[in-house]
Amino acid sequence: MLNKRNIAICMGSSCFSRGNNELISEIQKFIRMHSLEDKVSFRGDHCFSNCSEGPNLRIEELIIPNIKKETIADILKKELSDLL
Ligand code: FES
Repeated sequence: MLNKRNIAICMGSSCFSRGNNELISEIQKFIRMHSLEDKVSFRGDHCFSNCSEGPNLRIEELIIPNIKKETIADILKKELSDLL
């Protein structure tokens, strides 16, 4: 059994106020569309200490800053390309 890829979205107050709340549904949609439920683990997490560049997403150890609703699907496609 493969380990799931860990994806975390920052739910700290700064990223939250910069729109991370909206991005959750976009990420969940991407996971469903690509049937990744068994391959990724998606959760919210505490502040990544990178607030000024938020909203932030983390895939394993990689922090991806400034994520937006318009770009999140492309980011996930690129970072999860080996799972698609
Ligand atoms: S609140 Fe997201 S990095 Fe601090």
